[in-house]
Amino acid sequence: MKVKNICCIGAGYVGGPTMAIIAQKSPEITVTVVDINEQRIAAWNDPDVEQIPIYEPGLSEVVAEARGRNLFFSTDVDAAIDAADMIFISVNTPTKTYGMGKGMAADLKYIELCARQIARVATTDKIVVEKSTLPVRTAEALKNILDNTGNGVNFQILSNPEFLAEGTAVSDLHKPDRVLIGGDLDTEAGREAIQALVAVYAHWVTKDNILTTNVWSSELSKLTANAFLAQRVSSINALSELCEVTGADIQEVSKAIGMDSRIGPKFLQASVGFGGSCFQKDILNLVYIAKSFGLHEVADYWEQVIIMNDHQKRRFAAKLVKTLYNTVSGKRIAMLGWAFKKDTNDTRESASIYVADYLLNEQAMVVVYDPKVTQEQILADLDYLGTRSEAENRTLIKVVNSAEAACEQAHAVALMTEWDAFKSLDWNSIYDQMLKPAFLFDGRRLLDRKVLEEIGFDFYAIGS
Ligand code: NAD
Ligand code: UDX
Repeated sequence: MKVKNICCIGAGYVGGPTMAIIAQKSPEITVTVVDINEQRIAAWNDPDVEQIPIYEPGLSEVVAEARGRNLFFSTDVDAAIDAADMIFISVNTPTKTYGMGKGMAADLKYIELCARQIARVATTDKIVVEKSTLPVRTAEALKNILDNTGNGVNFQILSNPEFLAEGTAVSDLHKPDRVLIGGDLDTEAGREAIQALVAVYAHWVTKDNILTTNVWSSELSKLTANAFLAQRVSSINALSELCEVTGADIQEVSKAIGMDSRIGPKFLQASVGFGGSCFQKDILNLVYIAKSFGLHEVADYWEQVIIMNDHQKRRFAAKLVKTLYNTVSGKRIAMLGWAFKKDTNDTRESASIYVADYLLNEQAMVVVYDPKVTQEQILADLDYLGTRSEAENRTLIKVVNSAEAACEQAHAVALMTEWDAFKSLDWNSIYDQMLKPAFLFDGRRLLDRKVLEEIGFDFYAIGS
């Protein structure tokens, strides 16, 4: 079977970029991305392609090429489902905030709503693809809903988790390390569905890099990959604290261990803590799944990755307060960067949110600058924590339009996101504009200690 018409439910950080690349590379396939969020769809359709809702290097160019040709964004979910022969589900699967599994399990209500809607609307056979990250065995629940509430048409369920990282989504999608497709390998119809999706990716990905497995392995591999990646960051961050008290330097340690080909050099960058919408959510989900099978040692092992990450954020804020003579009350602290990593406007679970919250608890005056994050988003992130009233957040925090403006008259600078532009700031003139002693806390190991100390900064970097 050849796929001609794709629908993707969910026009977020995964659905948008993934479908844009499929459309770019497969001109004969019509791709419609749908969402219930009208504002988001309107932004994807903005005549000025720079206004699309997600900032990713290279993405606006891909959208400009394919949009209106074979890439469409719409709020008419039913129509797109009906027309499609393959439907990707790419909706959010956040951590549950209520009921059983609160704070740990993935909330699957959006997934179930999609399944029920597909079942209600579909009048022809469909291949339904799990693109969202899901607990192992979710496909079973999907199949149950589709088969029991549908109009008698056939559904094949595939798992095709997405491994893109934000900030590099376009290059990750253009050249994926692997594409993973899980399906029913035991039936002819299952194998055909798998091959239909393989053929979509084969437009630009070599067959050797397209891996096919059973559905459960595919679902579990996604959680596992994120757990392994996050575990490396927590491992190196744990050792960064040991470096600080022993005179070892985490950068040197990372390099030394990373040159061991069995360990490898990537994902060994010490930081103020990992953020992003995936790592914490997916590990908590893994911990919950392990617990639900009674595997308590397995659950505890992975939970430690989160405990370490929370510690890293907290100790960075504590170090700042301690260094500033144990009080930041009324002091101006500049925070450079609010996004959870460079080259994205996404702030979900960003370490900046938590560090700012700790500093605000100490009554600091926090001034934030981020090249891509709006004031509205920064305030929304703080309000969401619910630590203090919205009015208080608005009195204590200020958002400005440049790094220089943030640092003016500041007692200390906290460098939170590794934006390239922060490397080449005029640190001499920033130093001149700050109160003395001028403290600089590098949460990303972005800056050169020697240069900054020569300027006159009291310099602290994670891990040395
Ligand atoms: P997102 O919140 O950016 O986007 C999800 C979109 O789905 C939202 O715009 C929402 O309005 C829409 N939606 C929800 N329910 C809907 C419904 N019933 N009908 C139509 N639209 C609906 O989320 P995201 O970051 O794109 O993540 C989506 C999934 O992909 C999650 O499971 C996530 O774990 C996974 N994932 C994310 C990343 C990443 O880097 N963000 C990477 C890999 C996998
Ligand atoms: C992650 C996975 O990498 C990706 O495969 C998956 O599809 C989604 O989740 P993402 O969260 O977008 O991607 O970004 P990633 O590059 O993994 O960074 C996550 C966090 O870890 C960021 O806050 C980043 O700054 C931090 N990090 C990463 C470190 O602190 N040190 C490192 O060495 C690497």
